[in-house]
Amino acid sequence: MKAIRIHEHGGREKLRYEDAPDPRVTAPQDVIVKLEAAALNHIDLWTRMGATGMKIPMPHILGADGAGVVVEVGANVKIVKPGDKICLYSFTGCGECEFCVSDRNFMCIRVRGLGEGLDGTYAEYVKVAPENCFPIPAHMNFDEGAAFPLVFVTLWRMLITNARLQPGETLLVTGIGGGVAGAALQVGHRSGARVIVTSGSEEKLQRALALGAVHGVNYKQKDIVAAVKEFTDGRGVDVVVDSVAGEVWQKNLAVLAPGGRLVTCGATAGWQPCDDIETIVSKNLKIYGSTLGSREDFCQLLRFLNETKIRPIIDRKFPLIEACDAQERMEEARQFGKILLQSQK
Ligand SMILES: NC(=O)c1ccc[n+]([C@@H]2O[C@H](COP(=O)([O-])OP(=O)(O)OC[C@H]3O[C@@H](n4cnc5c(N)ncnc54)[C@H](OP(=O)(O)O)[C@@H]3O)[C@@H](O)[C@H]2O)c1
Ligand SMILES: [Zn+2]
Repeated sequence: MKAIRIHEHGGREKLRYEDAPDPRVTAPQDVIVKLEAAALNHIDLWTRMGATGMKIPMPHILGADGAGVVVEVGANVKIVKPGDKICLYSFTGCGECEFCVSDRNFMCIRVRGLGEGLDGTYAEYVKVAPENCFPIPAHMNFDEGAAFPLVFVTLWRMLITNARLQPGETLLVTGIGGGVAGAALQVGHRSGARVIVTSGSEEKLQRALALGAVHGVNYKQKDIVAAVKEFTDGRGVDVVVDSVAGEVWQKNLAVLAPGGRLVTCGATAGWQPCDDIETIVSKNLKIYGSTLGSREDFCQLLRFLNETKIRPIIDRKFPLIEACDAQERMEEARQFGKILLQSQK
């Protein structure tokens, strides 16, 4: 099959479009999926650069998200069969530790994901375990089925499981062009929150307003703290969903109302933010670190998506051979929503 592989860590020039062995059923629990679409995530860039600290076997196929059709299954696979249209929950734990046996395999210290230790979805086919396969929500096509899993399950755990967003609350989402941020806008709006967004792009702010945001702040032109305080009559927001960090971190603390919750899943702008312990203490803030989500989170999310008919925001689709251009678009933050790869020629 054709795949995008890296043979060593580095820049985008390390992405090679080449022949890779077709994945085969070699164990009774194997499932082979013919991919119709894959989606990019920021983790693909970190993995390509070698910035995750995880040692991965080379050559390696990137990509955590994909959707397609089951084409072959091992003898013990019961929950999917050839012909099923599926999307992927991309993580697998050791299966033995206290986290794995309590449906928290995303916290397993030996967790591996598609494109992050396991060969991923920048390919025509992928081999997965049955417990990683879920039906694509009925109202979604393959592109949408590939676009939502990683960012939406991460966001679901951040916003619903951890921060427990309530209807009527005010939510600030930073960097609305990002995948997690877009999911936060959609889920937050549909859950009855008033969603304020930030972006470095006027066009992205306009698109966010069209999707239900009540206010947009251009962080390149305005002081976020002053703008959000003004919009909320000096009160501040109940919840911040952030994956930017860096110099944005302290501003997130400053815009929270007393008792507010800040939930983070990443640090695109830097892992060493200038913290403000005084604000955290005096305003009684709660800060949640959040990563991925459990299968239970994923099942709750699927029920929510099926009920609300929400479709993930799609930015643009590239042929697999153009994965380098697709990653460049993400690296330069030109996207609004999810960037996709067309898996089949
Ligand atoms: N822990 C987990 O489970 C998990 C899961 C998914 C993602 N993540 C992490 O979350 C982060 C985002 O990933 P993603 O795939 O959702 O997003 P993404 O598609 O990579 O988008 C990043 C966005 O961040 C915004 N941004 C960048 N610098 C900014 C700044 N200085 N101030 C405000 N916004 C800024 C930009 O928004 P605008 O273009 O609107 O300005 C950009 O579009 C990454 O660090 C990723 O590793 C973690
Ligand atoms: Zn484990």
